[in-house]
Amino acid sequence: MRKITKPCESKESKYIFSEGINYFKTGNISIWGSGDKKTLDVLKRIKIKGKWLNLAAGDGRYNLYLLKKVDFVIVSDIDKGALSKLWHTTPLKYRHKLDTKIFDINNKFPFHDNLFDGVFCTGVLHLFPKKILRKIVSEIDRILKPKGRVIIDFATNIKRTLPNGKLLVFDSEPLYSLSEAKEILKKLFKNYRIKMYESKFVEDVKKSNPPYVMNCKFIILIADKK
Ligand SMILES: C[S@@+](CC[C@H](N)C(=O)[O-])C[C@H]1O[C@@H](n2cnc3c(N)ncnc32)[C@H](O)[C@@H]1O
Repeated sequence: MRKITKPCESKESKYIFSEGINYFKTGNISIWGSGDKKTLDVLKRIKIKGKWLNLAAGDGRYNLYLLKKVDFVIVSDIDKGALSKLWHTTPLKYRHKLDTKIFDINNKFPFHDNLFDGVFCTGVLHLFPKKILRKIVSEIDRILKPKGRVIIDFATNIKRTLPNGKLLVFDSEPLYSLSEAKEILKKLFKNYRIKMYESKFVEDVKKSNPPYVMNCKFIILIADKK
């Protein structure tokens, strides 16, 4: 894959929350840090195999953990530059089991039914209102094999503090509370066997546009399709 440096501009009114940055100017570590401890614990101990989709993977904070365990990972995002950095920072020995797909999560996913053994998605679903979330989860369900597994996180009680002390809120952002999010996830995954874990996240996201300090609680959901 060639290096794509052109920023992908955000269009919040269309539910496109990209960073508008050149990812090749952000260093090798993900702009979102090296990962939440609890999510990493889940990823390290969970048994997963087969073909996985890392949905809205960004520049790949968690992708190597997937690649080390499963047979094949397709990483998707609306932002070609983020996926291009992910590709170039993935060690050569894993690239034969990595592919990229650019698409907007709001549309029908470009995959046939029952294709994946698992779908992983972090750091993005909390940005969408319930109506769109339902559509996204129904697409996840469509492309997931029976007995497939979903691992997602869902941020709640979000506070993004800008360097000038003001709060940053995206247009149209629902800002779910923890209890609200738990109820929504239970309903969305009602046909799945689910486990939920709670965690907290404080990260100085210096390389986003604009930079801010993110403070939130979040849910890690593991959902197994019956
Ligand atoms: C906060 S980042 C999380 C990235 C990665 N999943 C992680 O946990 O490090 C959100 C990602 O969602 C992508 N994104 C935002 N809106 C999208 C959309 N409508 N369709 C596909 N990807 C989108 C962004 O480009 C960005 O890479």
